[in-house]
Amino acid sequence: MHLPIGFVPYCSGLTLPFLEQGQGITRRRQKFAREWDTHLKRSCAVQAEWLGKHPDSTVLILGAGRLVDCDLPFLLGNNTEVFLVDADPGCEALYQRLKRAHQRQLNFEISDITGLLATWTATLKKRMGWEETLETLRSLAGSGVSQLQLLTQGELALSLNILSQIPIIWRDYVERLLMNRFGKKFVLENDAAWLEAFAPCGRYLIEKHLADLENASYQSLLVITDVEYATYSGEMATGESPITWTRTQGGADSKLIVGEWKEGPELRDAEVSPSLFGVDLEDRAVLKRLFPNYEATLEDSWLWHIEPLGGERKGHGVVHRVSAISLDLSPSV
Ligand SMILES: C[S@@+](CC[C@H](N)C(=O)[O-])C[C@H]1O[C@@H](n2cnc3c(N)ncnc32)[C@H](O)[C@@H]1O
Repeated sequence: MHLPIGFVPYCSGLTLPFLEQGQGITRRRQKFAREWDTHLKRSCAVQAEWLGKHPDSTVLILGAGRLVDCDLPFLLGNNTEVFLVDADPGCEALYQRLKRAHQRQLNFEISDITGLLATWTATLKKRMGWEETLETLRSLAGSGVSQLQLLTQGELALSLNILSQIPIIWRDYVERLLMNRFGKKFVLENDAAWLEAFAPCGRYLIEKHLADLENASYQSLLVITDVEYATYSGEMATGESPITWTRTQGGADSKLIVGEWKEGPELRDAEVSPSLFGVDLEDRAVLKRLFPNYEATLEDSWLWHIEPLGGERKGHGVVHRVSAISLDLSPSV
């Protein structure tokens, strides 16, 4: 069984942020089981429908993580060959156990899927002052030769709730590195400056992940990702989300979907921000530019009440809007 991914040396300096995110997912999934259920069900349902259109295939799952939002028994029962990829070392024991039970159907790789973070880390680790560090950070986008190659044997690729997280995990790492070098207080006081310097490489990582998928010419892709975050504050902790998003139109124009955020009366100042560093994945023109050989379809979009009011921070809560977009290789290609 071939692994449809080029070998990537594991970037050991970066293990901690991946491990922490994986542990955070496991903890929140247990703690907020009721709030997370809708998200997990919608995500698994979209995957099942997409796979139903491509039976007996091989599927590469990028961002498989702790398999919280993936119905692996369904995949394996569907005669699918599955390749799991994630950089979180905490997944290794789970994947190994699964591999022993499903020798012929399952394979995995614990790797950084950008293939760049080891090189970028080495570049940033050189001794530099603050201004030079920011200049170096700004110049990372487009630099370094990626050690990742998605190979083309695979038929399907699923980008599973990883797209927005690729730059976030890298940003956490960069923040830690800056704090170690310049002190926590200084970095917090200058967060606008370093975040501005970080933005180009954040966007680059998003576009690179999508370009890697496009270049590998898979028959069909399914990208499940956060597209917007809403953070809200208030006093009343309710089980239901006091902030909602309602679809107002969809399909017809330049956008795959359009809607509006609404806050409940007990809230103050919900703040909505896009999650993909300026890449609007629901814009048809953007999708055409990034995936010229593919037909894009919005499969579903839903809310993930990832942090209920007061659940982790007093008086605060967070809702993500998630979209699932399938991309099918055009018959002419
Ligand atoms: C929000 S989680 C996805 C949840 C996951 N599907 C699960 O069920 O646990 C994002 C995942 O992307 C992985 N990830 C983020 N950046 C990555 C990178 N550069 N290379 C490989 N995996 C990465 C993280 O380790 C994490 O498991």
